[in-house]
Amino acid sequence: MSKSLALLEMRGVSKHYLLGESRIDALKGVSGAIMPGEFVAVWGPSGSGKSTFCNLIGLLDTPSSGSVSFKGQDVAGLSDEQRSELRNSSIGFVFQSFNLVPVLSALENVMLPLQIDGTPAREARAAATARLNEVGLGGHLAHRPAKLSGGQQQRVAIARALVGAPALVVADEPTANLDSDNALRVIALMRAISKSEGTAFVFSTHDERLLERVDRRITLCDGVVTDDHAASGVIALRGQSC
Ligand SMILES: Nc1ncnc2c1ncn2[C@@H]1O[C@H](COP(=O)(O)OP(=O)(O)OP(=O)(O)O)[C@@H](O)[C@H]1O
Ligand SMILES: [Mg+2]
Repeated sequence: MSKSLALLEMRGVSKHYLLGESRIDALKGVSGAIMPGEFVAVWGPSGSGKSTFCNLIGLLDTPSSGSVSFKGQDVAGLSDEQRSELRNSSIGFVFQSFNLVPVLSALENVMLPLQIDGTPAREARAAATARLNEVGLGGHLAHRPAKLSGGQQQRVAIARALVGAPALVVADEPTANLDSDNALRVIALMRAISKSEGTAFVFSTHDERLLERVDRRITLCDGVVTDDHAASGVIALRGQSC
């Protein structure tokens, strides 16, 4: 795997949190690369470090030791402002709890990241409308989140994550608040977009049923990657007992 081709690379990444007197080692020496256009699941039980992993690859947090490079650039060398610029221009986020603004319509929610970046309203509206069409919600532009189902709200959130044409979308347990049909639908949608546009997606889950849909599965167990390979073929889960 050539490092110059990697979208994101982690080398010996560890992350600990201090809670009073005690230290929690959430990630311990994780290395690996995310390639452009990859569709990757990070799987592991509660407390295994999935959210910590997502926060680090999303450049929302920095490692305690080790390095994270994005598009060949070591993130540690960036100021907070440069890091957020890189994040805003290159990474989209989808959250477990959708995180839509309740008083805004679906269209306004998707326009928001562009407007914050100073994109003119007309252009933002056109891009957001196209994204909502793409996720099958072209008929729900004016709906506020409360008028949408959970699956629809998460599709709005996916449209919002994609509206700035990021190279990477990070989704921390995007299906945790969805029933299983909607969960599968959301993963299928993310996969279709990843394949058609070459956007890398990394999503965390503890739901084994979603792993059949991915190109690659990274298994986390107590902060360590215990398994990392293409998920086609036999899925030999050993994380269950970790
Ligand atoms: N901000 C924090 N302060 C202290 N400890 C934390 C913090 N965030 C996470 N941890 C701890 O780090 C470890 C890994 O947590 P993390 O949230 O990454 O796991 P997870 O796999 O996402 O779990 P879940 O499936 O429950 O969301 C856990 O022991 C957790 O309690
Ligand atoms: Mg988590």
